[in-house]
Amino acid sequence: MNTTTMVPFVKWAGGKRQMLEQLYIRMPDTYNAYYEPFVGGGALVLSLAPEGAHINDINQELVHTYTEIRDHLDAILEKLMELDKVTCTREFYYDMRSSYNEKRLSHSYDTEMAALFIYLNKHCFNGLYRVNTKGEFNVPWNQKQSVRSMDMENIKAISAYLKSVTITCQDFEQALTEAKAGDFVYFDSPYAPLNPTSFDSYTKEGFTEEEHRRLAALFRRLTEKGVSCMLTNHNTELIQELYEGFLIEEIDVRRAINSDPKKRRGKEVIIRNYGEAIKPKRRTRKK
Ligand SMILES: C[S@@+](CC[C@H](N)C(=O)[O-])C[C@H]1O[C@@H](n2cnc3c(N)ncnc32)[C@H](O)[C@@H]1O
Repeated sequence: MNTTTMVPFVKWAGGKRQMLEQLYIRMPDTYNAYYEPFVGGGALVLSLAPEGAHINDINQELVHTYTEIRDHLDAILEKLMELDKVTCTREFYYDMRSSYNEKRLSHSYDTEMAALFIYLNKHCFNGLYRVNTKGEFNVPWNQKQSVRSMDMENIKAISAYLKSVTITCQDFEQALTEAKAGDFVYFDSPYAPLNPTSFDSYTKEGFTEEEHRRLAALFRRLTEKGVSCMLTNHNTELIQELYEGFLIEEIDVRRAINSDPKKRRGKEVIIRNYGEAIKPKRRTRKK
């Protein structure tokens, strides 16, 4: 499989960089259009750079940043270079966070806002994206004074690639209304909680048990249409129940975003409506 050197321009919760090898070996041999309706940092799409890709996310600021990288790269680079020349003290971080929030609250979705989005992602705690009920980004500073906000070659390559990509900001179901037989969809929704009683915290982010049921129903409809689908999630009872009858494989993954190192390893599943289970590699004993 041909892969690129492109990597996400943001650190994103649920990012799939640690799982890429497991995803590559499960991709369909051929497909027409490529869809990622929960793109986040886009680890898979960027590493494969498929032709005719459709990427989507409900996070408006993230999608705005993708489109600005595509359309106004030079202005973004200029702004980021200017920001990176300054030592990121506590005061400077919170000033930049306020500037970003002013833009967000006044709906000034411009190039500077996209540059600030990338800057804050690299200088905030754990690369989290969280807003309060007033809609203000409220993640604290990561206490690192000199972090580079971007890798110039990477962001240039992403900008060039995005010129041929369809980028949308809508609900996952709407993002797939045009998917046809022979197309491929990779679903990486927010996780189902390992502990079902913690669904409450997910509600705030808008991905409830109901949303997982809606996603599973869509997965079945796309299967009937002849669309190849691959989906990743936690290995929970709910997920096992929702995708019963499909190919479900358990994978051990290292998680980058978790403040507790003990929780960084977890069991996840890769679910497909095509192909066969990957046989575990046989260990050969040294003579
Ligand atoms: C687990 S992350 C995707 C991570 C991504 N694969 C990566 O490598 O970074 C899930 C994404 O789903 C988005 N999302 C949540 N609800 C959504 C919805 N109803 N429709 C579309 N996107 C949604 C979130 O904004 C988030 O970026």
